[in-house]
Amino acid sequence: MSAVTAAKRVSTPQIRARKGGEPVVCLTAYTTQMARWLDPHVDLLLVGDSLGMVLYGFDSTLPVTLDMMIAHGAAVMRGASHACVIVDLPFGSYQASPAQAFHSAARIMSETGASGVKLEGGEVMAETVRYLVQRGIPVCAHVGLMPQAVNVAGGFKATGRSDEEAQQVTRDAEAMAEAGAFAVVLEGTLEPVAAAITKSLPIPTIGIGASPACDGQILVSEDVFGLFSDFTPRFVKRYADLGGRISEAAAAYSADVRARRFPAMEHCFLPRSGGQSRP
Ligand code: KIV
Repeated sequence: MSAVTAAKRVSTPQIRARKGGEPVVCLTAYTTQMARWLDPHVDLLLVGDSLGMVLYGFDSTLPVTLDMMIAHGAAVMRGASHACVIVDLPFGSYQASPAQAFHSAARIMSETGASGVKLEGGEVMAETVRYLVQRGIPVCAHVGLMPQAVNVAGGFKATGRSDEEAQQVTRDAEAMAEAGAFAVVLEGTLEPVAAAITKSLPIPTIGIGASPACDGQILVSEDVFGLFSDFTPRFVKRYADLGGRISEAAAAYSADVRARRFPAMEHCFLPRSGGQSRP
């Protein structure tokens, strides 16, 4: 055995135990290289079905398939050795029945090696979450603004503005905790409502467009690094403009090729003096 002991991956019970403690740092990742960059800095990497919009250019997350999530989940696992990695169950892969959810989640767990799954839905998903957890599948729930329900909601709208909405999102979060979820993502939820849920819930809340009081925070990495759209939603803080840097670099490459400045001789394979020419 090597003298150097490999650091152990953060587990879902460790995330659960962070309730009320040090904030849980989460980001999304869809690829091996992004996972390598983020892994040392975060507690949890989510392979979110937002990849449908961010990577594939769909208008919503609805066209994302289980096979896509498995391919990207496995890619992220190849790049992450420290963070807890969880993978979204995509639309249509779990809503029909607890058995359908188990079949999909079991494929994700066995084919990617991820530590758990995330699914959208509150009270209506309680039976499914209990079924999965009792059968060995850690579940992170997702309530509040639920992107897979965009057609029912009539858009990507924050929730919790009316008493009725505030009570619904609170009941949803409570139902997920009671069903055994190890954490709950609270998306697009009015700040005081998210803060109140965080205070009363026994499991960590992971906020996105929610509240600084949440037990953790998550953002889509491409939003954080300026790699997606030029529009920055209110709940996003952009820490870099890598899209702008890529554009500048592409313009410089293009100018060099057009002016025959690239490739220079240093980029070419040259014959060895007195030898054969081979790469
Ligand atoms: O799909 C996703 O990336 C998500 C996060 C925005 C929480 O669900």
